[in-house]
Amino acid sequence: MSIDERALTEQVVASFAKTEDARLRTLMQTLVRHMHAFVREVEPTESEWMSAIRFLTATGKMCDDLVRQEFILLSDTLGVSMLVDAINHRLATGATDTTVFGPFYIEGMPERAYGENMAFTPGAPALVHGRVLTTTGEPVAGALVDVWQTADNGMYSGQDRAQPHGNLRGRYRTDAEGRYAITTIVPVSYSIPTDGPVGQMLEATGRHPWRPAHLHFMIEAPHHRSLVTHLFDEDDPHLDSDAVFGVKPSLKVRYRERSPDEAVGRAFGFQSRFREAYYDFILERE
Ligand code: BEZ
Ligand code: FE
Repeated sequence: MSIDERALTEQVVASFAKTEDARLRTLMQTLVRHMHAFVREVEPTESEWMSAIRFLTATGKMCDDLVRQEFILLSDTLGVSMLVDAINHRLATGATDTTVFGPFYIEGMPERAYGENMAFTPGAPALVHGRVLTTTGEPVAGALVDVWQTADNGMYSGQDRAQPHGNLRGRYRTDAEGRYAITTIVPVSYSIPTDGPVGQMLEATGRHPWRPAHLHFMIEAPHHRSLVTHLFDEDDPHLDSDAVFGVKPSLKVRYRERSPDEAVGRAFGFQSRFREAYYDFILERE
């Protein structure tokens, strides 16, 4: 006996009608409606549906507690992470733009002093500095600036076991004037991991896996909304085709050539030529 396809959808939606939590009820019923609409539109064969289940199973198996999170990668490469970001930051508040968190953050990385070096693998020396300010321009003293980036081989410490603990990661505190300063290396563009289901999806659809060079930031201060963002190198060739759609024009910075004899070089003790990027972050009050 064949079933009525529309009635089936309504029957499943109705099965959630007694969910006490109204938000959960909306989420489940809407999910069912959209999933049924998708299936109705693409009419998968049974073997295609099994492939989809195998794909999601493999995605789950490629997640660990440290730095491999294939589901975040899937959400990112489908643009869902950036859509969630956009929906949650719709109002122009004057705060710095946000972007994807990504799967490679590690909690509890070393606290570092103002200007301290966080690079223990080779690369082009760089100073990244600026201030953390409120939307009305006052400095935010004592803000926690948590930063992470890849090594020159395009991999994050934690992901690449050969890198020393805490390499290219650190937690900096702003001083009384809201200033932060990070000695590091110029970031490079890198490929997101392609050895899992997301890589297969990119390959099968002719998409490239590159992200433009960037530093990740998570900035927290009491009474302010925390800020998760990146700073992108404005000269990167992948800015217009980021594999995870994370670039916003306001987040580009220039890495200017500097000599150790210039005031900024002397102030931070550089011994050779380096690059300087300057950026002020703006936090929104809670
Ligand atoms: C990252 O920038 O670390 C990243 C973001 C999204 C997916 C993969 C990597
Ligand atoms: Fe990254």
